Order: sequence, then C-alpha cells, then structure tokens
Amino acid sequence: MTSSRNSFNSKIGIILATAGSAVGLGNIWRFPYLVGNNGGAAFLLIYIACIFLLGIPGMIAEFIVGRYGKANAVKAYQNFSGSKAWSLVGALGVLTSIIILGFYAVVAGWCIQFLYASIVGELQGNVYVIQDYFALISANPFLSVFNALLVLLLTHIVITRGVRRGIERASKIFMPILLVLLVILVVASISLPDSMKGVDFLFNPDFSTVNGNTILEALGQAFFSLSLGTACLCTYASYFKPSVSLLKTASQTALIDTIIALLAGLIIFPAAFSVGVDAGSGPSLVFITIPNVFQQAFSAVPLVGRLMSILFYLLLILAALTSTISMHEIGTAFFHEQFRWSRQRGAMFETLICAVLAVVSALSVGACPNLKVMGMSAMNFFDSLTAQTLLPLGALLTFFLVGWFASRKVVEQEFIGGSPLLKKIFPVFLFVVRYACPLSILLIFLHQLEVI
Ligand code: PHE
Repeated sequence: MTSSRNSFNSKIGIILATAGSAVGLGNIWRFPYLVGNNGGAAFLLIYIACIFLLGIPGMIAEFIVGRYGKANAVKAYQNFSGSKAWSLVGALGVLTSIIILGFYAVVAGWCIQFLYASIVGELQGNVYVIQDYFALISANPFLSVFNALLVLLLTHIVITRGVRRGIERASKIFMPILLVLLVILVVASISLPDSMKGVDFLFNPDFSTVNGNTILEALGQAFFSLSLGTACLCTYASYFKPSVSLLKTASQTALIDTIIALLAGLIIFPAAFSVGVDAGSGPSLVFITIPNVFQQAFSAVPLVGRLMSILFYLLLILAALTSTISMHEIGTAFFHEQFRWSRQRGAMFETLICAVLAVVSALSVGACPNLKVMGMSAMNFFDSLTAQTLLPLGALLTFFLVGWFASRKVVEQEFIGGSPLLKKIFPVFLFVVRYACPLSILLIFLHQLEVI
C-alpha cells in the first residue's frame, strides 16, 4: 500500500501546502480575538515564545513520525513506534481534527456570508450596523448551517480529487496573493484616525494581565495555528520525500504563520481602536472590525473599497479551505487506509460526522442557545476542549514518543537526512524534545489543574 501513496511533487509545494494548513482562520479570526481578550502585547510575546520554543520542535517531532510511518495518523504512530499502544495518539489526532473541523466550518461559513454581503453591498453603515449584521447572520439557523455545510462540501470536493493535485495547486496560487492583500490592508488600517492606540495595544506589553490561563490560551493558540497536535502534520509528512529538511520546513511554516497573524493583528487593532470597537469583543471581533477598514480607509474611492472587501473575503475563505482540507485529509486517510474503504467512502464518512458537529456548533451560538456543554455554548466547548486540552496533549505525547521511546537512530536519521549542519544541531533538538518541551507543557497543565 505504501508505494501507491501520493507524494508532494515539489519542495515549494510542500512548504505551501504545510503553510496552507497552518495559515487560516486561526491567524485571522482566532489569534486577534484571543490577543484582544487577553490584554494585548503580553499575550503576543508569550504566543511567539510558544511558537518558536515549543511549536517548531513539536512540528518536527510530528513530521518525523509521519515521514517514517508513511501512513495515516493511526498507522503512522504504530509503524514509527513499533507498538499498537502508540497508535492511540494518532487516533486522538483524528478525533481532535474532526471536532475542530466541525466548528471551524461554521466560522468559515460566516466568511462566506460576509463575501456574499460585500458582493451585494450589504456591509454598509457604521460599526453598530455591522455588529447587528453579524448578530443577525450568526443567529439565523438556516444561513449559518447552510454556509457551514457549503464549506464542508467544498472541502469534500477538493479532498476527493486527490492529495497532490487538489492541495498543492490550491496553496500555490492563493497564499502569496493573500499576503500582498494583508499588507495593503495594514497600511489602510494604520492610516485611520487614532489607529496608533491599536498598535500600542499590540506591541506595548502589560504583564499584570498575565495568569496561568493566559499562558495556556497562548500555548493552545500556537498549536492551533501551526496545526500541531492533531496529527495533521504527521499525515502531511507521510507524503514528504526523504530529501526534505524537516527543520527548514517547520521553521519556514512557523515564520509565515506568525507573520500572517501579526499582519492580521496590525489590521484589526488599529481599526478597532479607531472606530471604538472593544478589543475584547470575542469571536465577532474580526467580523465587526474589518468592514470598517474597507469603508473608512477607502471612503474617497468606495468602489475600490468594495472590490478589496470582496477579494479579502474570497482569499480568507481560500485560506480557511486549505486548512479545512488538511483537517479533512487526516480522517479521510485514516478511514480509507485503516478500514480499507475507498477514498471516496472515507471522505464521505468524514464529511458526514463533521457536518453533524457543524450543525450543533452553528445552532449553539445562534438559534439554540440551550445547546450547552459545561456551561459553554457547544461551539465554545469544542473550541476550548481542542485548543486547551487535546492539542497540547497530542503534542505532549508525541514529544514523549519521539524523545524517549522511539529508536534514536531513526529520529536522528529523519532529522539529519545527510546534512552536516543538521548533524550539529541534532543534540540540541533531542534535548529540547526530551526535556524542555514536555516539561513546559506538563507544568502548564499541572498549573491549570491547580496541582502547582
Ligand atoms: N492551523 C489552522 C488555522 O490556523 C487550523 C488547523 C488546526 C488546521 C488543526 C489543521 C489542524 O486556521
């Protein structure tokens, strides 16, 4: 079966597809609202530390499992460890990715609605009008369910067209355009009156707001944004060729991911402070802030503003899709290979489970506020369960596996791949994966459980 698996056919394809998975609503929707909820710059600093100190080693660890294991997440963990027990970590990844895809599709669906609204010109008016519009569409059961299911359908179509053609081609075209558009929007947002207060909020840290929860949220967001801890990177790495440098791929992806998140912050906070939107508005923050940038910064040339708005939502949806595709691929590869179903059938099963979760999530934040789990809306529950528990747990177990239980020779060979420079770096990597990373995650968990 292994020899018939697809593989990414170019280095740039690999970095773009991995970055395509990483860059998505995590950067442009989730990151800014968490920065806003957690007081700004101090959260940002902790987040960046998590990306570079824990995220990059974590990505490499997952890549190692996937490229050596050459199979779906569950089988890859088993092949790599030589034991069935470790395949549970892969299974945990499949489960986590299904839950994330369920609520992620709802947010991507809101983006579709905003795209539609910018095309037909519904996003006009001051910040209160936009706030009402968001409240209206997220509470409308038909619209929010329909859009979320549309996202899953689009994802399903790309996935059933195959790994290489679908994913690689998509990421190659959209990512660079998105980057250029974000830079234009940063300039537009910073040119708004009073925007510097937003820049200050993002870059001038106030550590008095930091507590254990802030750190866990930053850690969860770093993992969410890098697609780490869901076995997504493991699944993608199973399609990597042996010549690919894992350190380089991980560092480049983390860098692109962080740059995009920062650009998103530099669009949203200056605009929010300029028009008087509360930075701690939560999940609606991006949706109620960005339309104002288009209207105000381009008020002299409204047509340009409108066209930019259409392009922005279009690209945001595409960025979300490269992420939903990567999440979907985890389950599809698993159902297809593990149960010996056709890829079509595996994909269909994945789409159906996610559709159920998407409907529950969509209704829980709108039409059915009684859909609560542990006092939170089902959607918030899925979000915090995955980001704050399951992702760090998946990464922690992967660190244990790669650092302590796996054959050192295999880990070394996957990491070094014949490069003398990487040979020198390997002991540092091993130290970090064995001690620094698992200990940090454990400490954060124990603190959260009030053990320490
Ligand atoms: N990293 C993606 C984003 O930032 C979300 C994601 C999480 C994708 C987990 C795959 C797996 O939007």
